[in-house]
Amino acid sequence: MKNVPVIAVLVSGSGSNLQAIIDASERGEIPGRVGLVLSNKADAFGLERARKHGIPTAVVDHKMFASREAFDAKLVEVIRASGAVLVCLAGFMRVVTPVFLRAFPHRILNIHPALLPSFPGTHGPAQALRYGVRFSGCTVHFLDEGVDTGPIVVQAVVPVHGDDTEDTLAARILKEEHRIYPMAIRLFLEGRLTVSGRKVFTRGVEKIPDFSRRNPDA
Ligand code: GRF
Repeated sequence: MKNVPVIAVLVSGSGSNLQAIIDASERGEIPGRVGLVLSNKADAFGLERARKHGIPTAVVDHKMFASREAFDAKLVEVIRASGAVLVCLAGFMRVVTPVFLRAFPHRILNIHPALLPSFPGTHGPAQALRYGVRFSGCTVHFLDEGVDTGPIVVQAVVPVHGDDTEDTLAARILKEEHRIYPMAIRLFLEGRLTVSGRKVFTRGVEKIPDFSRRNPDA
């Protein structure tokens, strides 16, 4: 257990992506374990999920800090103490500063509910519906200083149906998030990801057939 790489997961809410990561790890599909779940909200359900699996949790309330930088410095301290080699944002609703980014260069992943670079920011599924696209999806990317602009690791495509509401589309996208986030983490922990400018190269994986799903509604 000791030599297994530690992942820190940051959540602000439900934590269904966190759950997918924990489950994948427990099934042995990820060569790492979630060793810290950190939230800026004491009532985030993600913390509950972590406790159920005996995973250490921490709450760092952003409202207790005078600046974003001071908040981020505390996050860095708590994450470093966990020994995490990878930080995964999973519905963590804070914009981080360079204090956080520079502490973990190319070691922070985020998941976004749209096919970036389309529809960054909040309410990705609602933006997609308003725009009238036929397909949307989700993206796992490395974090950089912009909002949802970092180098892309994995994406999955999801169809938009004529009768979709924000909720139905978000739910269809979320299912795919739960599939691709563990995949991206596995690639990272296997040491296969190299970032060069905007691009992420996946060493030893010429083609990742499972990454483009044939039937997203299944
Ligand atoms: C997901 O849609 C994720 O893409 C976005 O926030 C949502 C978090 O959902 N960043 P959950 O907390 O993992 O259930």
